[in-house]
Amino acid sequence: MAWRFPVTAHDYSRLAASRLPRFLSDYVDGGAGDEQTLRANDAAWAAVTLCQRVLVDVDGVDTTTTLVGQSCAMPLALAPVGLAGMMARRGEVQAARAARAVGVPFTLSTVGICPLEELHAAGVDPVWFQLYMLRDRGIVQALLQRAWAAGCRTLVFTVDLPLPGMRHRDTRNGLGAGSVRARMLKIIDLLSRPGWVRDVGLRGKPHVFGSLAQQVPGARDLDAFKAWVDSQFDPSVTWADIDWLRAQWPGTLLLKGILDADDARAAVRCGAQGLVVSNHGGRQLDGVAATANKLPCIVEAVGTQAEVLVDGGIRSGVDVLRALALGANGVLIGRPWVWALAAGGEQALADMLARWRRELRLAMTMAGVRRIADIDAGVLDVSSNTDNGSATT
Ligand code: FNR
Repeated sequence: MAWRFPVTAHDYSRLAASRLPRFLSDYVDGGAGDEQTLRANDAAWAAVTLCQRVLVDVDGVDTTTTLVGQSCAMPLALAPVGLAGMMARRGEVQAARAARAVGVPFTLSTVGICPLEELHAAGVDPVWFQLYMLRDRGIVQALLQRAWAAGCRTLVFTVDLPLPGMRHRDTRNGLGAGSVRARMLKIIDLLSRPGWVRDVGLRGKPHVFGSLAQQVPGARDLDAFKAWVDSQFDPSVTWADIDWLRAQWPGTLLLKGILDADDARAAVRCGAQGLVVSNHGGRQLDGVAATANKLPCIVEAVGTQAEVLVDGGIRSGVDVLRALALGANGVLIGRPWVWALAAGGEQALADMLARWRRELRLAMTMAGVRRIADIDAGVLDVSSNTDNGSATT
């Protein structure tokens, strides 16, 4: 079977699904509502047609670049993914090690399992830290100070989650229901995955939101943590709070979850060095546009005032080239890194990232560009691209 030697993101996703309990693989794979935006994200990249060029000197193609001032082996960073430490034993540490080995940034989620200090002690910094705004600003301040002390210099502030989206797969699996039936369902899922129970369930403890462990006294399990975090999400956050945040954080600030040109301009006015065009991987408002379709108008709105990263549905090195051709400075990937991690831990993720880098190099070679900075709309086959370039839907 194809996935015995996983190669593509899709191969890793199938392998991950065969290793994880169902409620976890659904948590990773799923989106909001009917998952229209989730599907649209993938499809929109596939619709971006590239130009094949020949007899250009493409000796020594180079994928290295910088992302918000940090040197990278390729223009890609691992997106923040909550609960990644449930997908592999101490998963965030393994993923950060793989990212470091390949030379790309890793972003630790506010709701990661491993705390900031565990990553610092593992010697994988500098990692990026992702922040959700919590009602208690004292907790936010303390988190930012810990992130700084742990060597983080890039803060990814997520702005598209005033409240968590409706994820029907999670509801079907009884997540957060707390009923006897929901507990039974979970036990049945766990019984079908003894390898995960041994490796991650038992040997990967503690399973709490590590960076918040001091803030949630008395909470022993993930359900209690999740209930606390859900009650702490602050839907009253506005642009004025970004000024407050800017004053708290001396490092680089990225705003993640921008999908509108006016919002992109506001992000630049607030002093963000970069933004991430994102719909949270189709997990928030189902029915919003694919990120590939929104990217060009946001790039145009921002100009050279900030770096523009994009995520959602990027599934290969070729997709990285497509994103750069549409004007992005780089990409974030979410599910693909988690799939590889769940499929085979640090080594599988390092293999996948190295393969993506080779794929990007090869795609640049055949598109006739030698440097990341040389990738522009000239790489697009405009005669075949009907949906991109000026699309704003
Ligand atoms: C996420 N995402 C996310 N974003 C964030 O800012 N903080 C978080 O804690 C999480 N958690 C999270 C969990 C899971 C399981 C997924 C799939 C996603 C969103 C993530 O950072 C990113 O925007 C998307 O995953 C990008 O889409 P792809 O690459 O997964 O298609």
